[in-house]
Amino acid sequence: MRALFTLNRYFWKYKHKLLLGIAFVVLSNIFRALQPQVIRKALDEVLLFLGSVPDSGHTEALGQSLMKFGLYLFAFAVLMGLFMFMMRQTIVVMSRLIERDIREEVFAHYLQLDAAFYKRNKTGDLMSRIVEDVNKVRMYLGPAMLYGINLISLVIIVIFTMFQVNAKLAFYTLLPLPALSYIIYVVSNQINLKSEIIQRQLAALTTKSQESFSGIRIIKSYALESHWSNDFAKASDAYRTNTMSLARIDAFFFPSMLLLIGLSTLIAIYMGGLHAMDGSVTPGNIAEFVIYVTMLTWPISAIGWVASIIQQAEASQKRVNDFLHTKPAIAEAPDALPMPKHPSFAFRGVTFRYPDSGILAAQDIHLSIAPSQKVGIVGRTASGKTTVADLMLRIYEPESGTILVNGTDIRNISLKQLRESVSYIPQDVFLFSDTISENIRFGNAQLPDAEIVAAAKAACIHNEISGFTGAYGAVLGERGVNASGGQKQRISLARGLAKSSALLIMDDCLSAVDAQTELDFLDQLDATLKGRSLLFITQRLRQTQYLDYLYVFEQGRIVQKGTFQELVDQPGLFKTLYDLENQTG
Ligand SMILES: Nc1ncnc2c1ncn2[C@@H]1O[C@H](COP(=O)(O)OP(=O)(O)O)[C@@H](O)[C@H]1O
Ligand SMILES: [Mg+2]
Repeated sequence: MRALFTLNRYFWKYKHKLLLGIAFVVLSNIFRALQPQVIRKALDEVLLFLGSVPDSGHTEALGQSLMKFGLYLFAFAVLMGLFMFMMRQTIVVMSRLIERDIREEVFAHYLQLDAAFYKRNKTGDLMSRIVEDVNKVRMYLGPAMLYGINLISLVIIVIFTMFQVNAKLAFYTLLPLPALSYIIYVVSNQINLKSEIIQRQLAALTTKSQESFSGIRIIKSYALESHWSNDFAKASDAYRTNTMSLARIDAFFFPSMLLLIGLSTLIAIYMGGLHAMDGSVTPGNIAEFVIYVTMLTWPISAIGWVASIIQQAEASQKRVNDFLHTKPAIAEAPDALPMPKHPSFAFRGVTFRYPDSGILAAQDIHLSIAPSQKVGIVGRTASGKTTVADLMLRIYEPESGTILVNGTDIRNISLKQLRESVSYIPQDVFLFSDTISENIRFGNAQLPDAEIVAAAKAACIHNEISGFTGAYGAVLGERGVNASGGQKQRISLARGLAKSSALLIMDDCLSAVDAQTELDFLDQLDATLKGRSLLFITQRLRQTQYLDYLYVFEQGRIVQKGTFQELVDQPGLFKTLYDLENQTG
């Protein structure tokens, strides 16, 4: 129950609702337990009447008192129902409020976490914690709380009332209770175990189908439909086997419970009958006790269910807490300095190793970018180019060496302002299922439409957007426009250009555009930059003619540096690659 204790602060937050809910439960159960007593009294009066000499006075009196009992019974039932309604209103509402709070908290926390965290954890896992696990926790907060409180208070009130009414009869009637509790405990444990396995299999089944739908094109193009169907059938069959065995346990559970409840009823009638002879028990008492036993049936059978919800919620909350207690490795420093307006960036002996793969992606890197300077990084794939961009944005932190912003260690600069003043156009395009203009605007609500168009023009995509039905209002993604790879790349480029920033990082983001568009873009580069600094990462060396200074990367090291002309004129990796590029075109 450790993990669930973390929820107590929410109970505290909504304590009024919780206390009110508990009060309603107790009231509702008091009125429930009163009903059999009315029935007993009515029954005893009827029996008394039957035993007496009938006359009209008697009959009328009996009619009146039965009427009175009937009204009582009705009033108690109405009150019981009313309080039950109100308890649901308070506790279920409370659970929904807490569920919202938890989900918001988890989501906000997720967004704080660093790239290494996202590398370590699968998207599916993140999703299931915020959706399914939070849902399971809500089941504990809502239904389990509701039934739990209800169950405990009903059992206490009913048993208390039974002993009050007739202690001896209560004792005998409740004798099978311990055995019943034990069976419920054993069986519900079994059910929980099975349910967990079934849950896991269902999750696997879901993942499997999800993957097939996302990858439907590749499955079809490899003609692997039947192979995937077979795999699915196997998983589905394993799931069926387990659900069947769960059904068998379930099937055993209810009859055995009913048997023991029946035993209690039998005892109530038999012992009641014996004691009725000596007058210590009235026939009304027997009927009353049979009703009590029936009343206990439901709460006792729900014990296992409530316990299993609590167990599942405990496991879920533990998983949620795991992530909630993960501290972002890279966070805002408490006394961070503001980001300068015209920053210069410098790497001083920066070395970095990816924590998960152990790959040494940057070794002793020295480079600098002055305000308004256009700096290029070139090199083959996997030479560590993107890593430099990640380090500059503090997506990752260097293992050794420092990154300076105007001479200040980047770790002492406000993280938020740093990222606000850098516009990063990543190598992997990511567009949201939203309109083109919202994708370019990307959170900057103040950005006038004219600037969105200007950014699109600078990214050489304006004409193509105008051609889409809906133009800038066209929705991208699964159900919307299917833009080509090159078009998506330039929309992503326009997004980066639309952001007002001091430094623009373009990571290989002209790779999917044609030669003419590439030329158009680079020709107007200075007009596009408007004095911003540029870090231009590319594999196509002819693009670098437009830049002021270049660094050549090879296996995480800088192997050459200089201007384009200097590098072309000297032997080395740059010239080799450049010649190769010109041969192949
Ligand atoms: N997130 C990551 N986790 C682990 N290793 C990575 C990650 N990103 C890149 N690498 C590795 O680091 C090296 C440099 O990668 P990268 O900077 O992306 O190269 P480039 O951008 O030049 O293609 C490569 O060997 C790559 O496999
Ligand atoms: Mg890269």
